[in-house]
Amino acid sequence: MLGNTEIKTSSRAISENIACVDLFCGAGGLTHGLISEGIKVVAGIDVDAACRHPFEANNAARFINGDVGRLAPKRLSEMFGDAEFRVLAGCAPCQPFSTYAQRYDVVGSPRWGLLYQFGRLIKGTRPDLVTMENVPSVAKHAVFDDFVQTLQKLGYHINQQVVDCSLYGLPQNRRRLVLLASRLGHIELIAPTLSFPMTVRAAIGGLAPIMQGEAQLMDPLHAASKLSDLNRERIRASRPGGTWRDWPKHLVADCHRRETGHTYPGVYGRMVWDEPAPTLTTQFYGFGNGRFGHPEQDRAISLREGAILQGFPKSYSFLPDGAPVHFKALGRMIGNAVPVTLGEVIGQSIAAHLGIEAETMKRKKGAIVDDASKSLVA
Ligand SMILES: C[S@@+](CC[C@H](N)C(=O)[O-])C[C@H]1O[C@@H](n2cnc3c(N)ncnc32)[C@H](O)[C@@H]1O
Repeated sequence: MLGNTEIKTSSRAISENIACVDLFCGAGGLTHGLISEGIKVVAGIDVDAACRHPFEANNAARFINGDVGRLAPKRLSEMFGDAEFRVLAGCAPCQPFSTYAQRYDVVGSPRWGLLYQFGRLIKGTRPDLVTMENVPSVAKHAVFDDFVQTLQKLGYHINQQVVDCSLYGLPQNRRRLVLLASRLGHIELIAPTLSFPMTVRAAIGGLAPIMQGEAQLMDPLHAASKLSDLNRERIRASRPGGTWRDWPKHLVADCHRRETGHTYPGVYGRMVWDEPAPTLTTQFYGFGNGRFGHPEQDRAISLREGAILQGFPKSYSFLPDGAPVHFKALGRMIGNAVPVTLGEVIGQSIAAHLGIEAETMKRKKGAIVDDASKSLVA
């Protein structure tokens, strides 16, 4: 079953005639899911050198530390080698498209251009399949329309939808836009697999109890951030699914006491054992940053718990042995990841598209090769 939070390693034989390159690969959430479903990922590219360890230690794929904006199509083509089917995957940083970011002037951010860079590499290499994932609000922006138009002009069949990851077995409420595009024919995202969502209890209920500010000896990633005295009192007064409104008056922050504070009820809550977790952000390890309190222990969830709620196996290694645990850097890597569960869904969809119709694909492919160059209006 997809999204089984028990460790899930390669469930399928890796298909040697597929080569996938993962742009903006991060710690490898997407790659890990794709590999689990038999999609051979040959390389991942990311500007953050700290992603090398988790990407390479958990996945049989090469990490390339670099800027996607400076990647030449020729180099990308070389990475694909002579694989029969080439897949280009990419999850450009989503902050410019998030609801939070929309309140600010971020149009000048160079990250807006990264989807154009993705489009440039598609034009330059014409992979057989393309997949991208992002926050649903990306679809409201011209950069996304331009990306879709680029694919259309190149002759891709496009399937784009917003998915509720919890219905695929991720123990977290997380809605994401997934785009699949194929030059070979109509492509579908597999249907949700669950009729009821996975819960926080099923995912992290078995982990050893730890205190705030402490880490488990056996697993340094099972570490909870330190709470101030005030926040310790606050979490004791918090209930699962509640907010700061449950607290006695003296614990409520000044900004929440004011009228305007009433617009931020979504902070300082505990998770609920028998529900999916709220959407994890890059700061999920902080009690005051969302509803990230542990359901019953007086602390925020640990980095390991966050990783598991993002679908990573319990043993996924994020740091070399003995390396210091930095909450901010690891929180960003984990919170930014494409959930492994969603990577599996995308991998299964690609495998079904290529596998079931392999013979048809081969015939079609012969006819398609270089056809797109005629239809391309740069
Ligand atoms: C949303 S995260 C990707 C998550 C990743 N796909 C996963 O599944 O774990 C975006 C990534 O883009 C990387 N990034 C940002 N700008 C980049 C650039 N110009 N070139 C390459 N990577 C970049 C960030 O370091 C970050 O790891």
